[in-house]
Amino acid sequence: MFQKNMLSVAILAAGKGTRMESSLPKVLHKISGKSLLQRVIDSCDELNPDQIFVITGHKSKEVQNSIPNNKKIHFVVQEPQSGTGHAIQVLCKEINKNEGKLLVLNGDVPLINPKTLKRLLKLYDSKDTDVSLISTRKKNPHGYGRVFLKGDFIEKIVEEKDCNNQERLITLINAGIYCFNWGNLSKIIKNLQNNNIQKEIYLTDAITLLRNPLSLEVKDNGELQGINNRIELSKCEESIQNLIKEKHMLNGVTFINKASCTVSEEAEIGRDVIIEANTHIRGRTKIYSHCTIGPNTFIENSNVGLHCDISNSTVYDSQIMDHIKIGPYSHIRPNSKISSYCKIGNFVEIKNSHLEEQSKVNHLSYIGDSFIGSSTNIGAGTITANFDGQKKHQTKIGKNSSIGANTVFVAPINLGKSVTTGAGSVITKDSKDNSLAISRTKQVNIENWKRKKS
Ligand code: UD1
Ligand code: CA
Repeated sequence: MFQKNMLSVAILAAGKGTRMESSLPKVLHKISGKSLLQRVIDSCDELNPDQIFVITGHKSKEVQNSIPNNKKIHFVVQEPQSGTGHAIQVLCKEINKNEGKLLVLNGDVPLINPKTLKRLLKLYDSKDTDVSLISTRKKNPHGYGRVFLKGDFIEKIVEEKDCNNQERLITLINAGIYCFNWGNLSKIIKNLQNNNIQKEIYLTDAITLLRNPLSLEVKDNGELQGINNRIELSKCEESIQNLIKEKHMLNGVTFINKASCTVSEEAEIGRDVIIEANTHIRGRTKIYSHCTIGPNTFIENSNVGLHCDISNSTVYDSQIMDHIKIGPYSHIRPNSKISSYCKIGNFVEIKNSHLEEQSKVNHLSYIGDSFIGSSTNIGAGTITANFDGQKKHQTKIGKNSSIGANTVFVAPINLGKSVTTGAGSVITKDSKDNSLAISRTKQVNIENWKRKKS
């Protein structure tokens, strides 16, 4: 259905990103776990546009496949990639109705805040203009197009490479974000030429051909940073990380060494949590109050309950309940559940296992595909041999059991409650409640024995 005020978005994502020196298309590089293109889509999605066109070209299929299905998103292929103006020429030709507003976003300006986009649309709506764009002052404007004003309007935009020495001194830059009257843009778009140093068709040249071009000058707080190389990529990573960590600090989280830690945008962290140095909280992780996490700890897509202490350890896709101590040097692999008051110690690997309350695995163990009842102590060096070469099998150990050091459980195996195993045993048979399972040869002492001289 056509409305006069329809909002369409075009995201320019066809370029190769030569300066990234990468086999990955530039817009698929990630900051804080999300691609540049996905970030731009997410920010404009908040404006609830009627349709979003993503212009792809270089490694087009790879770029298209990176975006989850969305009814609003349509891909337009620009081949060859002859510049930002050419990208919009292709769009205008491909789409029948060039009507309403067209918000054009560079796919390599990923931190743009939806509020700033709303301000741009508001300015555009409130004035009699064919184009409004976002500009900002940069102390070092190197690499950006310079915006020249004449009275209330933009006179022209000159790309860095086309500037003369005088023009290069201008510090007002084009952020690469425009709101056009799509109808009027499509009338002049064919007239753009490539008579510039890069022999590209520049979208910025359209400004001079349109009525009353306006500039919305925004304070530069990092959201307009364009990404052309990996230095700029890391600048954006740093600004987003600073925002995330500052949010948590204001909510009561202490970072001992902020610069060495990263936190995903989705992570939730409770009050009075202390994050020690070199700690990384990734994915949909939730950490409840009064925990100390780190140093040197990596936690991904996991829940960590109240009053836990995890140091020098790695935790993936698992549930850690309350009052648990993990580490140093523990590895909790996916699908594990560690119940309250458990302790997981040095060089212990746990995978797809459930430990009930107050159990301890303190030293040098592998616990895989296992269920361990409450208050059971697993002695140092215990191994669940869960793999028979073809299939994985389960080990079950009942509550209040005491597993001797260096026990090997050859799964599948099922031990009752209050079972004891002798140190160094290889357990291949199930055993009942309250039993002692022991399987080792008796010690023989040969007295007065001496090694023969050779
Ligand atoms: C562009 C602007 C510049 C602005 C800067 C802001 C032009 C001519 N210049 O410069 O004024 O200061 O952004 O960051 O627009 N792309 C295509 N098809 C192409 C070429 C590029 O889709 O044929 C896409 C790229 O993938 C990228 C975006 O357009 O996402 C910008 O292209 P890029 O070459 O990085 O432009 P800049 O030189 O940074
Ligand atoms: Ca760029």
